[in-house]
Amino acid sequence: VSTRRFLKGGSEELSRELDGRISAFEVKDCDLAGRTGALKVGSREVMTPALMPVVNPNLLEKGYPLTPFRLKEEFGFDIMITNSYMIRKNPDLSSRALELGLHRLLDFDGIIMTDSGTFQSYVYGGGGKNEVDVDPLEIVEFQRNIGSDIGTILDRFTTPDTDRQRADSDLRETMSRGSLSLEKKGQMELAVPVQGGLHLDLREEAGRLVREMGVRYSPIGGVVPLMESYRYAELVDVIISAKKGLGPSIPAHLFGAGHPMFIPLAVALGCDLFDSASYAKFAKDGRYLTMDRTRHLREMESFPCSCRTCSRMEPKEMLELPPLEREALLAEHNLWSLRAVMGEVRSAIREGTLWELVERSASFHPSLYEAVRHLGDRADFLEDNAPATTRRFMCSDLNLGICRPEFRRYRRSLCKNYRYPDADEMVLVKGTSGLRGTVGSRKLHSSFGRGSWVVVTTPIGPVPSELLDMYPPGQSVLPPIDSLPGEIRNEVENHVKAFSEGWAGPVRSADADSLSDDAVEKAPSGLDLHRIINVSRMQFGRETDLEIDRVLLGEYSDLSLLKERVVLRTSRRTGKVRNVLAVDGDKEEHILSLRAEDGHFTLKLAGGARLHHAGWPYRVTVDSETGEYNAMGYNVFCRFVLSAGECIRPGDEVLVVDPSGSLLAVGQARITGRHMVEGDSGVAVKVREGIKGK
Ligand code: GUN
Ligand code: ZN
Repeated sequence: VSTRRFLKGGSEELSRELDGRISAFEVKDCDLAGRTGALKVGSREVMTPALMPVVNPNLLEKGYPLTPFRLKEEFGFDIMITNSYMIRKNPDLSSRALELGLHRLLDFDGIIMTDSGTFQSYVYGGGGKNEVDVDPLEIVEFQRNIGSDIGTILDRFTTPDTDRQRADSDLRETMSRGSLSLEKKGQMELAVPVQGGLHLDLREEAGRLVREMGVRYSPIGGVVPLMESYRYAELVDVIISAKKGLGPSIPAHLFGAGHPMFIPLAVALGCDLFDSASYAKFAKDGRYLTMDRTRHLREMESFPCSCRTCSRMEPKEMLELPPLEREALLAEHNLWSLRAVMGEVRSAIREGTLWELVERSASFHPSLYEAVRHLGDRADFLEDNAPATTRRFMCSDLNLGICRPEFRRYRRSLCKNYRYPDADEMVLVKGTSGLRGTVGSRKLHSSFGRGSWVVVTTPIGPVPSELLDMYPPGQSVLPPIDSLPGEIRNEVENHVKAFSEGWAGPVRSADADSLSDDAVEKAPSGLDLHRIINVSRMQFGRETDLEIDRVLLGEYSDLSLLKERVVLRTSRRTGKVRNVLAVDGDKEEHILSLRAEDGHFTLKLAGGARLHHAGWPYRVTVDSETGEYNAMGYNVFCRFVLSAGECIRPGDEVLVVDPSGSLLAVGQARITGRHMVEGDSGVAVKVREGIKGK
């Protein structure tokens, strides 16, 4: 259980922190370690994941046609970034910026972030000292004085080849500048980047220090050289380490990551913001940007894009335009494709199909493919963050798909929580793709005798028939098991073997072809009860040793006894179980409902009370004052969460309790337990039922 640290001394500190704050970050939907959200700075807001175009203030002076005004009004970018160091170096720009403020100077009514000159010192200052002619505190004050929404400290850019000692001393310097700069920031939000080079322990420590300093926005810095040389696997480790330290509540910005190819993977690891200068830089070189690569305009016969720019002309016509006009049009197309990628990742998160997008992007470059495969060894991080269930699980390349957190979770949960049924024999059937569609569990069973218990072997592992509707097997579309690469196939076969050896009765194999088509619609005795037992054990037992089925349904020595005590209400249309009622004397209590979308249970208050009584760890403790509202059925907001189970993932059913531990409500977690405790904006638990009604 993690506990909010700063509340202990009374709520004074809390209210100061919240009332004085300038920005808020609210997470809405989660997928893998990625999320959609809203970043509010002052009165302005942007949906994340978001990309901010880099605006070169000197180019604007020269009449560059892609003005910030157009970026927002035509292209829909609600956030942009520019460089305060460049503005300050230009006396005319600098004095106008101080006089008008950035928003009027640039004519941009969205969020303006400014960078500090660190990158310039990396690019131009390489000769040893790695510094530009700017004072670290002065540049922060300057950003504040020109009205930047999010300023950036003058961090030390730590390159990937920096040795540990130097990376460490650079990091101390960056952190010390960070805390001094916080005192100068005024009403501006301040970004303190995570540096540390390739030293992962330093990256994690930097993230933690930034969070503990009370910083509310953090870029992951020093990564441009990794991206320029396609060192994506190392970049994955850098991001994961930084994110472990930062935690889920701080919006994370990947500094200088403008190529769309890497964006889905970076988002899946929890990056929320990106900046891109590439749209303009590429255009200057006559290059045309797409998701998978860049091409020179000269090499193109036709445009593979239907944006406003590309649908107006052919590459040849564009080539014939005067250079500046051509550059601007290319930049416009490049912006449209960046915008499209961001739209795609946001909707993938909402739909729960981010993995599918990451898998597609992996095919764009061998290094990216390796980086995604590399996630298989980083599964803990994904498991710490990924939702308990999503709506779809489609996978065309199992070399990559095997890295999905669901695989490991399912296998672990099957080993740990599954209870073998009483049956005469186990029938092992080789599964085809699209399990749910092709082999319904009733049909499977009616093809064999009443005493037979069917287990389908799938690329996910063995799936007992009563789990066929449950996520992930129930939502999965996978290649047939015969097409698996040798190594993975061995692993699956070993898992199936271990599973069948764990069962004492006889085992027989059968072909899927032997399933009869005219299956009788008659479930074998006890199949539905087995479903209740095992789905509840798998779903609610993930991080506990409680015998969940007994906690929910009462002690039983055999199924016939249990049958007396449980009433299953089935859907009239599909015949499937919908509601589970527990009989207690002459009272019936509705404890669970089975969701059609993912085959998981939703917890009713009476079921929650049983889990609560047994000490189930999926609980969220809230402030006693606001707890009153949760008891009446209102949602739990992050800022009122005092502690929460670390086992909680988005989508998990949870208990809401008051500081004395009494049950107030049941609901569904929107974010992880850690996020509930560290965050201070947004919904933590969607309350379904409170003890005082709704
Ligand atoms: N732009 C690209 N990388 C960096 C970085 O590490 N720090 C800062 N401040 N800006 C950057
Ligand atoms: Zn286009």
